[in-house]
Amino acid sequence: MKKDIYVLGIESSCDETSCAIVKNGREILSNVINSQIKIHENYGGVVPEIASRCHTEVINQVVKQALKEANLDINEIDVICPTYGPGLVGALLVGVSYAKGLSYATGKTLLGVNHIEGHIAANYITYPELKPPFLCLIISGGHTHLVKVSDYTEFQILGKTRDDAIGEAFDKVARVVGLGYPGGPKVDKLAKEGKEIINLPITHMGNLDFSFSGIKTAVINLNHKNPNINKADLCLSFEKFATDMLENNVIKAISETKIKKVVLAGGVSCNSYIRKRFDELAKKEKIEIFYPEPNLCTDNAAMIASAGYYNYIEGKQSNLNMNAIPNLKLGETNNII
Ligand code: KG4
Ligand code: ZN
Repeated sequence: MKKDIYVLGIESSCDETSCAIVKNGREILSNVINSQIKIHENYGGVVPEIASRCHTEVINQVVKQALKEANLDINEIDVICPTYGPGLVGALLVGVSYAKGLSYATGKTLLGVNHIEGHIAANYITYPELKPPFLCLIISGGHTHLVKVSDYTEFQILGKTRDDAIGEAFDKVARVVGLGYPGGPKVDKLAKEGKEIINLPITHMGNLDFSFSGIKTAVINLNHKNPNINKADLCLSFEKFATDMLENNVIKAISETKIKKVVLAGGVSCNSYIRKRFDELAKKEKIEIFYPEPNLCTDNAAMIASAGYYNYIEGKQSNLNMNAIPNLKLGETNNII
């Protein structure tokens, strides 16, 4: 009988300290998430130095709690997988250093995981039957990528943002209309009361790349020139035109690759308007659409453990020279042997 594999994932790339235990890449035994949102709220965004310090303060407790909730001893873990990039360097270093220490002390295998790969893998947990190949649209605070996932560890970036990530644009729109941080969920909520009546520019890059700085600036200028503009209408119109840009490229990618399975990932894939639009697209284009459950869309260690599993079963591992790589690209295999 095949032996079960238990992965301990650690995520600390931004403002969530998380540790999860995942069995065979798909089954969550625990997923402890300590969010720093309340702390960064006071500053209107994530303060990197504060983020690193908060990770340091809680990481030990978060890992202990994850093992306790999974009812496992560290000796029963097969591999320790921290996120090693991309992300804030100081924040990443906390998880990477902790994982290296734990691996050294216990003799357990160490394997660094790419955070973007983790976002994709969140879908393997939500959909136990989901298998590559598929197209993946990763929309988060730091990334906007359209990727062909040929196999569990094989990726081809078809397009990405040339400027702002879509989540950054959501957060900026929230800030200018006075909703505060974190912006995405607040824009989502207010937009439900709005009408799609404000015209905003959309950018066509000519290929499968994205650009969100134009629409973001248009919202800032409109709000500045018309302080009494209806904020709910502005939020919904922003969502509408930003989604048009996502949808246009997804339709093009389906036509170029002939792949009719589309998977969404990342914090922005929680957005209810975007989900509604992609559900409509699925019906119209006769494609299949997948989204992770909301608590697996935003940063968490279960998705890191799942991605770690698929690399581990291919025989990959890292050694104690592993370092944090803040600008790590999807598909790069630094730190992996
Ligand atoms: O994936 P994530 O937790 O972190 C990164 O890897 O960047 O994504 C965070 C981003 C933030 O920009 C946040 O505003 C956005 O996801 N977000 C949303 C929603 N929930 C989170 N954006 C739009 N609608 C939402 N419901
Ligand atoms: Zn993320």
